[in-house]
Amino acid sequence: MAACGVGLLTRLSLRAQRSQVQCPLRRLLSCPGTVAADLRREEQSSGSAETGSEDRTPKKRFSEVQNERRGQAQRTVLIHCPNKIDEKKFLKFLSQHGPINSHFFYESFGLYAVVEFCQKESVTSLQNITRTPSLGPEAAIPFKSRYFNLKLRNSSNQTSELSSIQCSNQSSPSSKKLYQLLCCAESVDDQLNTLLREFQLTEENTRLRYLTCSLIEDVAAAYFPDCAVRPFGSSVNGFGKLGCDLDMFLDLDEIGKFSAQKTSGNFLMEFQVKNVPSERVATQKILSVIGECLDQFGPGCVGVQKILNARCPLVRFSHQASGFQCDLTTNNRIALKSSELLYMYGALDSRVRALAFSVRCWARAHSLTSSIPGAWITNFSLTMMVIFFLQRRSPPILPTLDYLKTLADAEDKCIIEGYNCTFVRDLNRIKPSGNTETLELLLKEFFEYFGNFAFNKNSINIRQGKEQNKPESSPLHIQNPFETSLNVSKNVSQSQLQKFVDLARESAWILHQEGKDRPSPSSNQPWGLAALLLPSVANNVSLSKKKKKPASERIKNLLDSIKSSGAENSTATNGRRAISTRA
Ligand code: GTP
Ligand code: MG
Repeated sequence: MAACGVGLLTRLSLRAQRSQVQCPLRRLLSCPGTVAADLRREEQSSGSAETGSEDRTPKKRFSEVQNERRGQAQRTVLIHCPNKIDEKKFLKFLSQHGPINSHFFYESFGLYAVVEFCQKESVTSLQNITRTPSLGPEAAIPFKSRYFNLKLRNSSNQTSELSSIQCSNQSSPSSKKLYQLLCCAESVDDQLNTLLREFQLTEENTRLRYLTCSLIEDVAAAYFPDCAVRPFGSSVNGFGKLGCDLDMFLDLDEIGKFSAQKTSGNFLMEFQVKNVPSERVATQKILSVIGECLDQFGPGCVGVQKILNARCPLVRFSHQASGFQCDLTTNNRIALKSSELLYMYGALDSRVRALAFSVRCWARAHSLTSSIPGAWITNFSLTMMVIFFLQRRSPPILPTLDYLKTLADAEDKCIIEGYNCTFVRDLNRIKPSGNTETLELLLKEFFEYFGNFAFNKNSINIRQGKEQNKPESSPLHIQNPFETSLNVSKNVSQSQLQKFVDLARESAWILHQEGKDRPSPSSNQPWGLAALLLPSVANNVSLSKKKKKPASERIKNLLDSIKSSGAENSTATNGRRAISTRA
């Protein structure tokens, strides 16, 4: 890697790199073709709110990003540091083991450093000079991990010349800060892009997620030496919000693969293995052992719960040092494929993630989603609804999954557990959409579309991109894109769906009214997305209206007013289309 030659100390802290978006030095130091370079490209393109003018630079495949991130994580160490530390001396000390590619600090019940070496061997060298602590009356269970504790030998000498360390922020902005940012924005489009920028996973947070998986992999490898622990879900699909959980799965597929390929002649060698009655029992046994390992020996893993009787058995735990709530499953290749599909949809058009983030934040602000499992709609389902809605635009902003399948070549072919999960994986082979609708219009019409969707008879289906008859009676039916007989929103109750519909109608109405009479930025009134997101504001709006009329009557009146003004405004200028209601 080019950066390895830069010198004794790390090239630049990631934080410093991020603060110099336009700086030529930063460009000089970026390694073309690396994940970091991609991120900068994304930052530059996601900064523009224009639509229909997508970045044409080649985009990386999901698998390429995954592999690069995985390699990067394997060369990285996590160090719990004293609260006061001399950054230069610290890096000089570490670079005795080899050149450092990048580093950053963050705070989470103490100060932590994430340090990426240029070579894996440097990690081994550092491990070789590291001792197991002696804890007085307590006993330590020795474990040579990549999670270290740094102590100062002569702390009084070392603290005298300290300059403060810049820490990377790992959390999303407070409601107050968000409110200010949204109110200062120039347009609703600007608001949606601001929300995306503030809530999306940062480069540092993403690195920490891959590193956490890699550290868990080290523990699991004690039992299964060739295993991999891979992140999936919102940590990797582009729709993750700072603070979201870390979904990971234990991949045992590589074990024994090579020996099968190398056999020749009349003999075939097989491993002696234990047999169990079913795949599910095997999963439960494996997770039970790994859960036990994490609980007993996993540095920094606390609150380990083995939830083995769930439909999808899992081990849930907190990784203290990173602050992530982790869900570990096994054999979850279909979920990884769903993550790849969502990643592709998110990367195809800059409006997709901006719209999905706003809808997800809107749902959270109104308690339509929750971190506790229950009858609520999930973020995954909401993202599928956004994708479906964007497939239904004219012209479509996103292609259907069936279309992506027609673009696939032989190498893209993918069958998992008998399900055809084939679609084109090279983003550059998909033509960008000619649709130039603004985010403001899309947000308004999203609420209107689902405020009037015939949920009682129709199913949402991103494979075909059109409404289908519901095959079963669940209130909300969203077809699983790969396991097509399954409904990803089977858990959603009628009352939760109704709440979603009522809020969607109300939000469509608020945006529509505002289009006619927007408060001036100096008035300090919440407007646009801010008016929809802040729960107190939304509640006040609903309460003041509820005093006047029952909700059903009010919503009916609102829709009537939208319909009539829709007809009036159907020839509206300035590129905005009037709202039309669907029966
Ligand atoms: P957040 O964690 O809420 O940010 O979103 P997430 O997309 O990570 O959702 P979640 O943690 O609930 O699930 C992780 C991943 O599992 C999802 O991204 C999907 O790939 C998959 N998944 C979740 N729910 C379902 C479901 O009902 N059916 C299927 N097939 N896959 C699901
Ligand atoms: Mg998740």
